[in-house]
Amino acid sequence: MRRITLIPGDGIGPEISDAVVCILEEAGAKIDWDIQTAGADVVATEGCVLPQRVIESIKLNKVALKAPVTTPIGKGFRSVNVALRKELDLYANLRPCKNIKGIKTPFEGVDIVVVRENTEDLYAGIERKIDNDTAESIKIITRAASERIAKYAFEYATKNNRKQIHAVTKANICKLSDGLFLEAARNIAQNYPEIKYKEILVDNLCMQLVQKPQQFDMLLLPNLYGDIVSDLTAGLIGGLGVAQGANIGDGCAVFEPVHGSAPDIKGQNKANPAALLLCAINMLKYIGEDEKAQNIEQALYSVIEQGKVLTCDLGGNATTTEFTQEIIRHLK
Ligand code: NAI
Repeated sequence: MRRITLIPGDGIGPEISDAVVCILEEAGAKIDWDIQTAGADVVATEGCVLPQRVIESIKLNKVALKAPVTTPIGKGFRSVNVALRKELDLYANLRPCKNIKGIKTPFEGVDIVVVRENTEDLYAGIERKIDNDTAESIKIITRAASERIAKYAFEYATKNNRKQIHAVTKANICKLSDGLFLEAARNIAQNYPEIKYKEILVDNLCMQLVQKPQQFDMLLLPNLYGDIVSDLTAGLIGGLGVAQGANIGDGCAVFEPVHGSAPDIKGQNKANPAALLLCAINMLKYIGEDEKAQNIEQALYSVIEQGKVLTCDLGGNATTTEFTQEIIRHLK
């Protein structure tokens, strides 16, 4: 039995977590889930959104599967997600986006891996109100964090037979901060002559991504651009319902989907658990359970390719429960 932290989150989080736990169990994965709640729901009883017990659990188990947690917009507490990444120094946010057979999108042949720096940039949370009509947020970029994420991207490319990395910035405007990010990326690129290194401005990248996404292999971005661009690339392959992600550090890894807590469909048995399931599949590969991972992956992809039982976001009308049961039926 492998002990793994499970953060069920809120909004649609608990529904899709139940679905994924059920599929993994049916596939015979021997996991002892260490369930840890976080977010607005625990504030009343524990006084904070991210209790220390959650951090300790992940540090101990080294691996976590995390469903989304709501963050209030424009007010209220800071993001649990951002805090978790900082506390555990999960510096690399990995978001692979590849076409899935059966999901109709405007483009074929999309296979892009987004590597997003996860610990600094505007997410450092240094903000202040100068006066009633003026506010400022500070964007922090350091050489150490930029070189570390660049090295992660080039190592990933080497291990996964990737050929090209684009470093993405707005260095024409943010000359110092994004300029430093580029300088670090160039330094690291020199050590990997077999991988083609290119640079592109984020606005041009967005335009190119919605015109000819197939030209891109891996993207290396500071935190904010990475956040935005990875939602765009998720859209290219069928939307947030199938976009997986992972936050990786030197000590531990937290696997979580790109999407949020989708409060608009909470409790309606409509949510697509596929993104969290893809995260769980990657998590199984990460802990060496390749066979179980492949079985579940095959089942998920067959259900999507057959197209008979799909959730609303994928153009069907199946409930979360029906979609989950269909995946279980396809397990070998
Ligand atoms: P969202 O990703 O929750 O929803 C955007 C749209 O996509 C909605 O229409 C939603 O119904 C749909 N959607 C998302 N996931 C889906 C799924 N699995 N199946 C079917 N439809 C799905 O983004 P939004 O509305 O901007 O954020 C809601 C909350 O989630 C916010 O509080 C935000 O801060 C939080 N959030 C949390 C994240 C995390 O925990 N890692 C990541 C992103 C947002």
